[in-house]
Amino acid sequence: MISEAAIWHDLECGSYEADLDCWRTLASDHRGPILDVGAGTGRISLMLAALGYEVTALDLDRSLLAALSERPNGATVETACADARDFDLQRNFALIIVPMLTVQLFGGSEGRAQFLAAAAGHLLAGGCLALAIADLLDDEEGAAGGAVPEADVCTVGETSYSTRAVALNQREGQIGIERRREVAAADGSVDVQSATDWIDALSPEQLEAEGVAAGLKVEPRRMIPATDEYIGSAVVCLGR
Ligand SMILES: C[S@@+](CC[C@H](N)C(=O)[O-])C[C@H]1O[C@@H](n2cnc3c(N)ncnc32)[C@H](O)[C@@H]1O
Repeated sequence: MISEAAIWHDLECGSYEADLDCWRTLASDHRGPILDVGAGTGRISLMLAALGYEVTALDLDRSLLAALSERPNGATVETACADARDFDLQRNFALIIVPMLTVQLFGGSEGRAQFLAAAAGHLLAGGCLALAIADLLDDEEGAAGGAVPEADVCTVGETSYSTRAVALNQREGQIGIERRREVAAADGSVDVQSATDWIDALSPEQLEAEGVAAGLKVEPRRMIPATDEYIGSAVVCLGR
């Protein structure tokens, strides 16, 4: 049975498509094996595996990886449940991708330094570590601020789930996307929850400098365009 975490993850991340071309192009440039860090329920891992690449999906949340494995072709993706700041997979990769601001969830510069050291140690010579980041304060009209976006909804069994970004909050060094989540049961009861994802403020220049400190070299950035619902991102590329 799918976990509630996987249901929210699919609703809040699953329909994002603006970055797929970028990851396809990087995969075509570097081939495999590929490590997808913070892979969630496999939005990108499954797409790359369907293209024939050897993919390992790493995530902290075991229930998200379980959902990935149950998807059509899920068995073609190897999974690793680990903290990205402290992992040892005993193998190296030609491409390590960190999509959808995941590197901005690692707890600031200290957490990122731990992750960059672990990732650098898993890169083949000539390999690339590619990380999508964004400045949420640039988002004047998108999902994280400005006009209130539509709710994303789905039904699982007899329960309906609905989620909508309602506010952009700030605290030192972080921006929080606050969502209102509603779970409507078959008996008519509605459970309303508030959930906030705190995203570290991070510029491409800062991440590139941190990559150099971890022994990597800066390669040309790529860009992911903005959509009506999502802000655009820069993809910082660090080579070995
Ligand atoms: C924004 S979601 C992106 C999911 C997926 N990559 C996508 O683009 O659809 C961030 C993911 O990173 C995972 N994550 C957050 N912190 C992590 C950590 N320290 N180590 C491993 N995974 C982490 C979360 O569980 C979640 O699945």
